[in-house]
Amino acid sequence: MAEVATCLATTDYLAAAESVGAEFTVVGPEAPLAAGIVDQFRSKGRRIFGPIAAAARLEASKTFAKDFMVRAGIPTARYATVESIDQARGKLRDFNLPVVLKADGLAAGKGVIIANSLAEAEQGIAALLTPGTTLVIEEFLAGEEVSFIVLSDGVHILPLDPTQDHKAVFDGDAGPNTGGMGAYCDGKILSDFQKALIMAQIIEPAIARMRAEGQPFTGFLYAGLMMTSQGPKVLEFNARLGDPETQVLMHRLESDFVEPLFAATEGQLEESELKWRPDPSVCVVLAAAGYPGSVQSGDKITGLDRVENATVFHAGTKLANGDLLTSGGRVLGVTASGPTLSSAIHNTYEQVEEIHFEGMHYRQDIGQKGLKRW
Ligand code: AMP
Ligand code: GLY
Repeated sequence: MAEVATCLATTDYLAAAESVGAEFTVVGPEAPLAAGIVDQFRSKGRRIFGPIAAAARLEASKTFAKDFMVRAGIPTARYATVESIDQARGKLRDFNLPVVLKADGLAAGKGVIIANSLAEAEQGIAALLTPGTTLVIEEFLAGEEVSFIVLSDGVHILPLDPTQDHKAVFDGDAGPNTGGMGAYCDGKILSDFQKALIMAQIIEPAIARMRAEGQPFTGFLYAGLMMTSQGPKVLEFNARLGDPETQVLMHRLESDFVEPLFAATEGQLEESELKWRPDPSVCVVLAAAGYPGSVQSGDKITGLDRVENATVFHAGTKLANGDLLTSGGRVLGVTASGPTLSSAIHNTYEQVEEIHFEGMHYRQDIGQKGLKRW
């Protein structure tokens, strides 16, 4: 970003927007949304795209999201909300193994444990249910995951192309969950029928119900879906774009992206459209040693100058005395395209091999699930 923009180190976003005379603000991450950045900017008459804090609860509170889905009749996993370890132990009896445990607040994709045994469930409850918090216990859903992201002005809805993330840290979806280890977007993840079903059963009821409850959702609504044998079910909502889903979406986007976001702030989204390039895109996340646990930082990153025909999106990096160093869990997202999914996968991994830092690890199987649709 520093190559194309001025980066300000501040959390006083309103003052920052005022200091650069920002005409339009688009919010990326969930924390400022949950803290009310959109409410704050609007109260000062500053144009901003994103949900108000009350609407961002769809992501910020698992309990709110689950209860909302029941009110709106949106298909999701059966669940129970508990507030104590004793209550959690009692409720566990109502679920089969594996069972899913979810911390209530924002956790950067790492607040979910899938327990395969009672012992793992007990450990998970103890780890996630800290005093004063709530925990959601949820039925395990089997199927393929899809990230279905739309943008909305509170009434109209413009869907982005579906993408597929890879949440687990190791190949074959093994190991603990992360914020996302890689994604692809190839126009084939869902059929037109499946997309219409998701719009009718999930997205349209969500937008309509949020409006009816007096907290209209303007912004990106991300439905994390499981395509089960009984149809699509919501695993989670996010109130923002996904990471690394956005990297692959932006690689395929042909039309202007600012225009629909701007139109949405005027309630005029119905006149906007998005055009996608046919070529599939793939993003492989290069993570630091230890991720998704505590990570090692400050290692030198080399090889970026050898990368060709790919976009390397920076996440956990920093510049120090001219050196590029690791600074966080997910360090880089290498993104490339090709005329077929298999060539896009090949092109991406070819560029990944140019890059090196101490302890670097990444999944080798990003996009493999999609090959069966080609
Ligand atoms: P969430 O933050 O709720 O999306 O959960 C993170 C990840 O955990 C999801 O992307 C899934 O990979 C997994 N997960 C969450 N809920 C379930 C569920 N009910 N059944 C199976 N896997 C789940
Ligand atoms: N990649 C999943 C997320 O952004 O939450």
